[in-house]
Amino acid sequence: RKTVTVPGLRAMKAEGKRIVMLTCYDFSFASQMEMAGIDVVLVGDSLGMVVQGQSSTLPVTLDHMVYHTAAVARGLKSTLLVTDLPFMSDRDVPHALEAGARIVGEGGAAMVKIEGAAPHILEIIQALDERVIPVCAHLGLTPQSVHKFGGFRIQGRDQDAADRVVAEAKAVEAAGAQLLVLEGVPSSLGKRVTDAVSIPVIGIGAGPDCDGQVLVLHDMLGVTPGKRPKFSKDFLAGRDSVAAAFAAYAEDVRNGAFPAPEHCFN
Ligand code: KIV
Ligand code: NA
Repeated sequence: RKTVTVPGLRAMKAEGKRIVMLTCYDFSFASQMEMAGIDVVLVGDSLGMVVQGQSSTLPVTLDHMVYHTAAVARGLKSTLLVTDLPFMSDRDVPHALEAGARIVGEGGAAMVKIEGAAPHILEIIQALDERVIPVCAHLGLTPQSVHKFGGFRIQGRDQDAADRVVAEAKAVEAAGAQLLVLEGVPSSLGKRVTDAVSIPVIGIGAGPDCDGQVLVLHDMLGVTPGKRPKFSKDFLAGRDSVAAAFAAYAEDVRNGAFPAPEHCFN
């Protein structure tokens, strides 16, 4: 398989090829994702919730992110590896550069992901990009803002809020972001954002019209305790292996079968 690269993802958007992305936290699952031909693997700070059992992503530290990134990197070869900047590692440019240096240098990621489009976040995106660390932006339902939002709530529901998300998407692209995760927004806004920028938009609960999709590993294997989020799907149900679940997910994203209307917000 050809190595997945940051410029290669842009080419996939231009060619209309959907991008398949999953979160991952360890070597063994990373090896399975590599074999399944997943395009992009994300070491998400969701590890605070699905690996550590925390009720939000806020307790996750930079050391945790570097530790899991290094483990995942050992299982990957041609898959692009992206890692989240954890809570408050993006409080200013110097801390974000230090975090990016450790995640890429020690951890082995090719790209870092950062939430939001506040003025200091745009500065950080530009600073990382100038120091040749590619950046994935993350807009919509940004989980590190859980206390500000008053819970994990769908974003961009009214016209003003939707217009704001479109403006943020243009701003992160202008700052130098090369990829954008869009989470927890109505499908109509998912389409607007995807059409508004030339960087690929990866949706999670953002409708079927994004350039790709991402799910949390534990959600898509049906092992997350409690209720399955509406936007997710258990791809292991009715299949006999994790490998088969990953293959089915990749196929359904590529042919547009996932997400179906029942996984979307209107
Ligand atoms: O941490 C995470 O898993 C994420 C994805 C939900 C995009 O940021
Ligand atoms: Na995250």
